Amino acid sequence: MRFPLEVFEAVRAAMPAEVPVWVRVSATDWVDGGWDLPSTVAFAEALKAHGCSAIHVSSGGVSPQQKIPVGPGYQLGFAREVKARVGLPTLGVGLITEARQAEAAIAEGQADAVALARAMLYDPRWPWHAAAELGAQVNAPRQYWRSQPREFKDLFADLRIGQR
Ligand SMILES: Cc1cc2nc3c(=O)[nH]c(=O)nc-3n(C[C@H](O)[C@H](O)[C@H](O)COP(=O)(O)O)c2cc1C
Repeated sequence: MRFPLEVFEAVRAAMPAEVPVWVRVSATDWVDGGWDLPSTVAFAEALKAHGCSAIHVSSGGVSPQQKIPVGPGYQLGFAREVKARVGLPTLGVGLITEARQAEAAIAEGQADAVALARAMLYDPRWPWHAAAELGAQVNAPRQYWRSQPREFKDLFADLRIGQR
């Protein structure tokens, strides 16, 4: 743990005090005798003591020995444990693909925020579609205002244009 803590301290010291600095961790490497959740909790507590603002909880794809139970939200349980035990704001990630799934992860307290990669690569407008599905709003560039679907009349927060 010493080396990453020193790296964190150096980054924290280099950034203005008002800028939050957080760390992405692999909660487990899925290998018996390897890095595991208790190690991650201890590491996160040390990071918290050094002024870390949040923890982003992933897991490590680093060994041919591992058997990862990949499925929807498969790493969220780790985020929930880190959040519950360490008390830092926590980001969850890993096969979060649906708007309601993302919303539920936050509403149920598994994480304070979620991150997406593959779903967002597949559909770069994922946040707009999620906002439409959840009845939320997004700020769209004015060049896109005409594209607001008729069934989502309040989707673009700043829209000032007549709909036809
Ligand atoms: C084969 C594979 C190996 C990964 N290895 C790591 C890793 O070592 N450390 C890590 O933080 N995340 C790892 N990830 C997680 C990704 O970096 C990324 O967070 C995740 O794929 C994002 O979630 P999503 O693409 O399911 O939305 C791995 C993902 C895959 C598919």
